[in-house]
Amino acid sequence: MTIRIKSYAKLNWTLDVLFKREDGYHELRTIYQTVSLHDSLRLSATPGAIEIACDDERVPLDESNLAYKAAMRLREAARVTAGARIEITKRIPVAAGLGGGSSNGAAALLGLARLWQVKLDERELLAIAASLGSDVPLFLIGGTVLGIGRGEEVYPLEQVNCEHLLLANAGFAVSTATAYAKLSRLTRQEALRIIPFTLVAAKAIRELPLVAANDLEETVIAAHPEIAEVKRRLKSCGARHVLMSGSGGTVWAVFDNSETNERAQGEMRAAGYWAVRARAVSRQNYQETLFD
Ligand code: C5P
Repeated sequence: MTIRIKSYAKLNWTLDVLFKREDGYHELRTIYQTVSLHDSLRLSATPGAIEIACDDERVPLDESNLAYKAAMRLREAARVTAGARIEITKRIPVAAGLGGGSSNGAAALLGLARLWQVKLDERELLAIAASLGSDVPLFLIGGTVLGIGRGEEVYPLEQVNCEHLLLANAGFAVSTATAYAKLSRLTRQEALRIIPFTLVAAKAIRELPLVAANDLEETVIAAHPEIAEVKRRLKSCGARHVLMSGSGGTVWAVFDNSETNERAQGEMRAAGYWAVRARAVSRQNYQETLFD
């Protein structure tokens, strides 16, 4: 049996960092959105080995790969002895703030549960997802998602509709750990001000991210000024809103219609940037289209 599953990218409509916790992680309030850009995973059973193959040489094929980790943790939790070959076709840029590796981990988890006919309830799957990384659980829900804690505690939100998105970056990788490590901010007191703000944002976001802000942007741009240039160019192409996604370096831009979006994509590519058009994928659409 072979299972094919999509592995969608995410962006962050907003990302508020509240404070550094005792476990070293940062307490977040973020609104995630799954988008149409996706990798593809092909899963087939093996007698026992877990094998990863990928068409992008920057992706590790060893136990550091989140799809590999997902397979090992699922096997352990469900006491499965079978193995799997996981072939990843990559379209989401690596270490770019679009959750590509996290999404691959979540897709492997969902796909292997089906391949191995594992019966774990949603809570157990969410716990494995959270153990893989902060941005993994959102991909078990899809659509517009509120993330709190280190981002791993996820709640479905009303869908933000957005048809004309452009994702663009200058082609370099940004380390998430470094982005957080460079952050010097926020006391608990300030955090108290931000919590209600984010909840209001979650409700008001259908007015599209008038309130969008990313607390990681300033420090990441200080290390990579090219990101500011990407933002500037996208604005000059007519984007209504532009913001860095996650820990960067991809910037998302919202356009009014497909013509301006397509023109902006052409201009960005002509200037040497990676630029891909996308749309927001609703929870229903996500759930319905995950398996091919
Ligand atoms: O959870 P994940 O392994 O994806 O996080 C990668 C790194 O990013 C962590 O090791 C940590 O340094 C940083 N991080 C953080 N606060 C978060 C999420 C990630 O400090 N909420």
